Amino acid sequence: MQDHYVLQVRALNVKIKSEQGMLPLVQDIDFAIKPGEVLGLVGESGSGKTITCMSLLQLLDRKTTSVEGSIRLHGREINGLRAEDMRAIRGKEIGFIMQNPMNAFVPVHTIGDQFIETIRTHSALTKKQAMELAVDSMDAVNLPQPYELMRKYPFQMSGGMLQRVMIAISMCLRPSVVIADEPTTALDVTNQLQVLRQLDRLRSECGTSILLISHDLGVISELADEVAVIYKGRIVEKADVFQLFDHPQHEYTKKLLHARPKLV
Ligand SMILES: Nc1ncnc2c1ncn2[C@@H]1O[C@H](COP(=O)(O)OP(=O)(O)OP(=O)(O)O)[C@@H](O)[C@H]1O
Ligand SMILES: [Mg+2]
Repeated sequence: MQDHYVLQVRALNVKIKSEQGMLPLVQDIDFAIKPGEVLGLVGESGSGKTITCMSLLQLLDRKTTSVEGSIRLHGREINGLRAEDMRAIRGKEIGFIMQNPMNAFVPVHTIGDQFIETIRTHSALTKKQAMELAVDSMDAVNLPQPYELMRKYPFQMSGGMLQRVMIAISMCLRPSVVIADEPTTALDVTNQLQVLRQLDRLRSECGTSILLISHDLGVISELADEVAVIYKGRIVEKADVFQLFDHPQHEYTKKLLHARPKLV
């Protein structure tokens, strides 16, 4: 019965080692995403959005953090999988766009090498085919002169460009779910819209589910079907996007809505 969810998270608790013992960072996180659905996760800086993503992807340091609870991908429990098994899932079944694009790339390799390496790790494509797929994917996010970009090193590109390369990488293998942590924050308004359109296309053309993370309700409202509001490490409200805007229940949600710059 649970299998019609692409991603289902139950009672997720993340703690970190400290001198005072294990400190909770996020608590009792519950949500589920169906195929082709976009769940927005919104909350202020420090509320636990990135910690939630990193725990789903199992990219937190296992020595200093603990991740309890259930994370099911197509019904299969992935919390606690071996690092090697998670590596096979990340990038292929779960695409991800990280908040800080600089950290997502290795400085000593070109963009092209990193792009092709990711594709070849997860597919049987030849180097030439992988190169073509990389170029097509960069075209799809409107990156100019993709062949030249492939030869560049991360430090030779702006944060916004790197963000779009990361989006191209995350989409090219058509994962069933994409986790996008503030995918538009580093971009100007025109590029923000383009990225949101790309994500929307991925959802409508490939049926990809998206966990869209932002502190910006405007971004969330462009794309999300459902919205979860996170406050101090807990989800305090979850509702259909229209209902959340029209009838916010939690005081914190009301504050977020009031803080939003008026667009119309
Ligand atoms: N390595 C760490 N050690 C201790 N506390 C941490 C660590 N990483 C994050 N935190 C704390 O966990 C909380 C949640 O951080 P997180 O990065 O998830 O916030 P966020 O919602 O993504 O914020 P932002 O919108 O600024 O990206 C914060 O209070 C942060 O200080
Ligand atoms: Mg964050």
